[in-house]
Amino acid sequence: MKIQAINGFKDILPDSVGRWQLIEQRARDIFERFGLQEIRMPILEKTELFVRSIGEATDVVEKEMYTFADKGITMRPEATASIMRAFIEHGLHVQQPVQRLYTIGPMFRHERPQMGRLRQFHQLDAEIIGAVEPRIDAELIAMGQMLMDELDLTVSLELNSLGCPECRPPFKTALVAFLEQSIEGLCEDCKRRTHTNPLRVLDCKKPHCRALVQDAPSMLDALCPECDHHFREVQTALQALQIPFQINRFMVRGLDYYTRTTFEFLTTDLGAQAAVGAGGRYDGLIQSLGGPALSGIGFAMGLERIALLMEQQADSQPAGTVMDIFLAALGSDTLGPCSLLAHLLRKAGIKAAIDYSGRSLKAQLKQAGRVRARFTLIVGDEEWARQEGILRNMHTQEQQPFALSGSLEQQCLQLLQCLKTTTK
Ligand code: HAM
Repeated sequence: MKIQAINGFKDILPDSVGRWQLIEQRARDIFERFGLQEIRMPILEKTELFVRSIGEATDVVEKEMYTFADKGITMRPEATASIMRAFIEHGLHVQQPVQRLYTIGPMFRHERPQMGRLRQFHQLDAEIIGAVEPRIDAELIAMGQMLMDELDLTVSLELNSLGCPECRPPFKTALVAFLEQSIEGLCEDCKRRTHTNPLRVLDCKKPHCRALVQDAPSMLDALCPECDHHFREVQTALQALQIPFQINRFMVRGLDYYTRTTFEFLTTDLGAQAAVGAGGRYDGLIQSLGGPALSGIGFAMGLERIALLMEQQADSQPAGTVMDIFLAALGSDTLGPCSLLAHLLRKAGIKAAIDYSGRSLKAQLKQAGRVRARFTLIVGDEEWARQEGILRNMHTQEQQPFALSGSLEQQCLQLLQCLKTTTK
């Protein structure tokens, strides 16, 4: 019986790895242009970290975490909490008051798998810790937009403010009072959320809940003067950076640590999974985890969703590995020297492939095509005796004699020279 991967856990096959590498390289490049440094954390953390940061009444903590209950540890469902834990544990703010960090890696949530929604998924996560200025919010959002632009992806950006511990509680009370009036019309989840996490009712996707909350009070009308000022400044700074956005007063986010600015990069091309990336400010989070009173803002983008979107929107072929040269050793005398030649070429940094099966030239050329070799060096016993091979340009199919004189080291140098000049 075949053993298959677990539902919601997916292999990333060599065909698609090129696209993943491209996304990761571009992300690293852009993050570093903005001064972010990479940090890597463990996948397992104490469960309490996520309960305290993401929030007890969130879907993630209530029902989606992979927890080893007897050990009190959980596979991280996101990266922000772990980054903050590491930031506090190592006192990173002492070295540098504003820390700009990013990480790339797998996250785990026990959700119902569907297109763009997995149980093991990967995030590109960026955080700027220790800065309060609204321009920082705009800069970070602009960095996310730059990644989308450089990957040729079209997404829309939505923006909201969730206020702060001053202005959110009275808003919540007003919202609960509003929801209670029409509670019978809400779905079962929203009935429950009205008392556990009322803000979440605002972004329920069910049509009748959507219709009901159209007239709900808006957080944006309830912002305190400081939050209102911050929100306006973020918008001005985004406009100055020429980043288009729309305000969506119904966006609430699924994690409890957010304050003030929240945002999402959205697409209509991935069915039900509209969010390619999302984030926001979390001004009280570090302190609530026992750290200094520092604010922060960040976002995470889903690698699976970016890769899917690239397939749909940008028809670029994943790069994949292209071999520089394929050595087709056709005779029993040539196999030994050719295998050493391949080894020397690899040592010199060349992507070299070789077939040890002694198959026919036709079969070996076919194999050279499969590994996308740029050149094939054909060496039969007779050519070998004449200290000669045939170099075939796999693209133009032109063939020319190639002198194989001197030691194998010298032959390797000749080949290197030839590959170098033909690349130019
Ligand atoms: P999030 O909205 O939960 O935020 O996730 C961010 C992104 O991760 C989503 O927009 C989506 O692209 C991807 N994602 C989430 N769940 C899945 C899934 N099950 N399958 C595939 N992709 C998924 C956060 O995680 C926050 N930590 C973001 C943040 C960073 N806020 C501040 N700093």
